[in-house]
Amino acid sequence: MSSSSTDLESTLIDLKKVIEPELKRYLELSADCPDRLRDSMTYSLLAGGKLLRPALVLIACEACGGSRETAIPAACAIEMVHTYSLIHDDLPAMDNDDLRRGRPTNHRQFDEATAILAGDGLLTYAFEVISRHQKPEQAALKCILELAYAAGPEGMVGGQMADLQAETEKITKLEELEQIHLRKTGRLLRSALRMGAIVGGADDLTLSALSEYGYCLGLAFQITDDLLDITGNQAKMGKAVQKDQTHGKATYPGLLGVEPSRNHADQLIQRARELVSPLGERSQSLEQLASFVLNRDH
Ligand code: IPE
Ligand code: IPE
Ligand code: MG
Ligand code: MG
Ligand code: MG
Repeated sequence: MSSSSTDLESTLIDLKKVIEPELKRYLELSADCPDRLRDSMTYSLLAGGKLLRPALVLIACEACGGSRETAIPAACAIEMVHTYSLIHDDLPAMDNDDLRRGRPTNHRQFDEATAILAGDGLLTYAFEVISRHQKPEQAALKCILELAYAAGPEGMVGGQMADLQAETEKITKLEELEQIHLRKTGRLLRSALRMGAIVGGADDLTLSALSEYGYCLGLAFQITDDLLDITGNQAKMGKAVQKDQTHGKATYPGLLGVEPSRNHADQLIQRARELVSPLGERSQSLEQLASFVLNRDH
């Protein structure tokens, strides 16, 4: 293992140690939240995901001169929104999956109604967390806008709709597929960078560099997810593989083939690294993260 991937791994382990207890603390809800709902939300939120999006919030905040701790509410909120998206993505009405984060999917462990409500709970609670806890107030308001836009009808939810429609209305143009992936995955991932930069007090130039970095990283992330569906290992991924083709999903390898998709992801990652290299020493973790996204096996 190269020293930079070792450095990144220890950074991610450190960040996990910061983020997980905070997620746990936020889930200490009052008795007004039924036990079964809290258990179901906790089951998926603390199931050992990579915590990539919250890590990006904290790393971006630090790269802009802020201290990591100040962005914890926004970091936790994006992981809640992401986890909700996975719970709903796995439902029988959507991708109909049985395994997620190495365990039965939420609707398998509980039931469909509970899984829908756990997703709803995480989505709405994410915005409560930012509104109550993210400081300063002006940054909180901006983060709410970033996260709502990224997750909403012009972002992740819109992308998920287009992803489902593409199962029957075949996609033949690369630009159309890119638009699906940018919405369903790219925009949320980009919002992690933007929220971190906002809390860290970034100037406009840095915000726009991190923003574009986030887009390249987000698109590359979904391309590698598509590739790992073909080449990945279920035990490592913690979810079923070899399912996109069966479901008729619009994917990069499905449209371009495996090697050209890998090359495309590689180019996006090169571009992402170039975008942040002017930040100098502060860009190190972001550059390492870009390489991780390209070479990941989970
Ligand atoms: C999976 O996201 C869904 C996609 C957007 C491809 P992750 O690969 O980040 O899943 P977790 O959070 O580590 O489980
Ligand atoms: C999911 O994409 C993107 C989301 C917005 C949840 P996929 O459907 O490919 O994600 P996996 O492979 O089930 O994790
Ligand atoms: Mg899906
Ligand atoms: Mg899926
Ligand atoms: Mg997938």
